[in-house]
Formats: sequence, structure tokens, C-alpha cells
Amino acid sequence: MKYSTTALTLLTVALTGCGSGDAAEANAAGEATPVMFAIADADLPSILVYKAATCGCCEGWVDHLRAAGFDVDARNVQDLMVVKRDAGVPGAVMSCHTALIDGYVVEGHVPAEQIKAMLASRPAITGIGVPGMPTGSPGMEGPGAKPYQVISWDRQGNAAVFADIDPR
Ligand code: CU
Ligand code: CU
Repeated sequence: MKYSTTALTLLTVALTGCGSGDAAEANAAGEATPVMFAIADADLPSILVYKAATCGCCEGWVDHLRAAGFDVDARNVQDLMVVKRDAGVPGAVMSCHTALIDGYVVEGHVPAEQIKAMLASRPAITGIGVPGMPTGSPGMEGPGAKPYQVISWDRQGNAAVFADIDPR
């Protein structure tokens, strides 16, 4: 599929939704997605996370990454849109925080297992992301969890489903 450029609205919704942080505080652990490829925690590269200071769900995701063995450098920035533009995050994939790890971009509430799978298989993509902020994704725990997708994209403008996640 190709991305549309209609996701500025989505981003606005995502960033606005970031304000409360209730979901993030509810539970930052408890995902049960199987690991598809093995990568030793000791070999994990550190991850740089750009987020908004007021975003509780971003903190929840950072906690999730640390619990999964990642060394996280979390930085609060004023204008995440600039970060997303510089990182080349497609509009349709945009979420709240944007992270960089080992040459890849990670956008939004991507489960740690999927990041590890990407690092282990090193596909020819720019990055992976979870568009919006689906309930049930890491950092967005809470009642009403629904299936969601991790989307990959590349420099040519191709997007694909990287993983289907069912957090229920
Ligand atoms: Cu969020
Ligand atoms: Cu966030």
C-alpha cells in the first residue's frame, strides 16, 4: 500500500491524546507477543527517543522498552513534527514519540519484540511504526484493547504490514 498524506489529523489526535497519560500509568508491562527472531539483550543497541514532556503514554512506552532490556535515551523536545520530518516518518504512520535505533526509525507504540525482530533480521526498510495510539499497545494499556498493526516503510514510499498484533 502507499501512504496518504492525510495523517496530520491523526498526529494531532495522537499528540492531544498524549496529554492525560492515564492509560500509560495503568500498566506498563504484560505484553505476550512471541519473539520471532533471537537477539541477546546484551547486544541491543541503545535507542534514542524523542517525546513531549507532557506525554504520559510516551513514558509508558519508555518503561516498556527498559523492561525489555533496551538502554533508552529519552529526550523531551518542543516540536516533534520537526523530528518526524527529519526522520522521514510518513504521515500515515505518525504517532506521538519518534525513536532512532541502529539506523532505523521507530514511530509510536511499537512493541519491543517487533523492534528486536527488526534488528535481528535487518530488513531493507527505513523504519517501523504503529500509527496513532491504539489502546492495548505498550504504553497505551487499558480496557478496550484491540488488534493493531506494525507498519514498515522504505525510502521509495512503500509501506507494508510488518506485524499483526492482538494484545487481547
Ligand atoms: Cu502515545
Ligand atoms: Cu508517545
